[in-house]
Amino acid sequence: MLTTRPRGTADILPGQIENWQYIEAMAAQVCREYGYREIRTPIFEHTELFVRGVGDTTDIVEKEMYIFQDRGERSITLRPEGTASVVRAYLENKLYAGPQPVKAYYIGPMFRYDRPQAGRYRQFHQFGVEVFGAKQPAADAEVMALAMDFYARLGLTDLELHINSLGCPTCRATVRDKLQQYFQPMLGELCPNCQSRYDRNPLRILDCKSSRCAELALDAPTTADCLCSDCQAHFEQVQLYMQDLGIPYVLDKQLVRGLDYYTHTAFEIMAPDIGAQSSVGGGGRYNGLIEACGGPPTPGIGFALGLERILLALEKSGKLPQIQARPLVFLIAVGDRAVRSSFSLLSRLRAAGIAADMDYQGRSLKAQMKYAGKLGVRYAVITGEDELQRGSVMLRDMYAGEQWEIPVGEVINTLKDK
Ligand code: HAM
Repeated sequence: MLTTRPRGTADILPGQIENWQYIEAMAAQVCREYGYREIRTPIFEHTELFVRGVGDTTDIVEKEMYIFQDRGERSITLRPEGTASVVRAYLENKLYAGPQPVKAYYIGPMFRYDRPQAGRYRQFHQFGVEVFGAKQPAADAEVMALAMDFYARLGLTDLELHINSLGCPTCRATVRDKLQQYFQPMLGELCPNCQSRYDRNPLRILDCKSSRCAELALDAPTTADCLCSDCQAHFEQVQLYMQDLGIPYVLDKQLVRGLDYYTHTAFEIMAPDIGAQSSVGGGGRYNGLIEACGGPPTPGIGFALGLERILLALEKSGKLPQIQARPLVFLIAVGDRAVRSSFSLLSRLRAAGIAADMDYQGRSLKAQMKYAGKLGVRYAVITGEDELQRGSVMLRDMYAGEQWEIPVGEVINTLKDK
């Protein structure tokens, strides 16, 4: 136990973290260009927020939340997603009183107690955006364009964007009736979970992971077939914008999302070759959520992308850049006086903004050279008793295998010039 991490979690080690920093920096850059600003909310919230926000008939709320009682006997949940928290922050901090729309983005860990497998973890990371107060179809198109732009900048261009419309509460009532009619004769064949969803939220049956339920749902009516004229017009506008932007998409009437708050546009992005967990991101509009959480009627739309799955897709397609964080310079010193002098040079190099390191194991000259080679540094600065006497150091270009003796006072400028 002491040396084993909990199932479904991962350590991100030096050597791997550079890839994370790369995609996180890309997310921040794209968001800056699209006018989204970062928001950081707590990793845990009151359980009620997710029950109400995500929906009590969803898999997430029914079986995947990390819930615990804190010492004050409050029910607390590790966030399974980011949208509900950002909505809570928008309301609690009265961001609706400022200029609208509010466009925010976040990057951070989420927690779901699901069965771990390749691409599915219990602690995973999302990059997400949320827009509050923009009801125009162009906002739907912007949010999807932002996601696709982000992937494309990383080099992921062979992804599939699936879109659908889930309609408004009026369309939802129509589809609900139709679904109940459709499933009624086969009620006994549905899984126990879906039998209970039949009354509470039949749309959820379309998202069931059991293969039998999926089979039975094959010919079920879809929301796209039940859209009212306003929702139909909104969805057509969204598609026109997507066509204008030249972003290909697949119209996918079967698409339902795993969270209950969606209305109108819903979308998911698939990477064809990363295995069963192929959804690298998803999102949509949620025009009723802010009001359902006690706020003024406010339209919302956003997405979240799974960073682990993006890394998998980058790895699979050979698009991960070779980033190595290595110091530029390694100081090699032989003898106590040389070590002292090198240690103070080390601090001056760092103060000058040059990444540098030295040995703290009392290695021999040969072993220090070998270690510097392993670190992959470009330059070694070698100080022995002779150099010390002459007030100089040996500057060695480790790649070219050449070296020169230079005055110690010129090391910083020489390295800066290089
Ligand atoms: P979601 O579809 O539940 O949506 O999750 C979004 C993405 O997070 C998925 O497409 C996937 O890439 C990643 N993901 C989800 N669960 C796991 C897991 N167990 N392991 C690894 N990756 C995972 C949401 O979370 C919504 N809050 C998105 C949203 C924002 N809608 C509107 N605004």
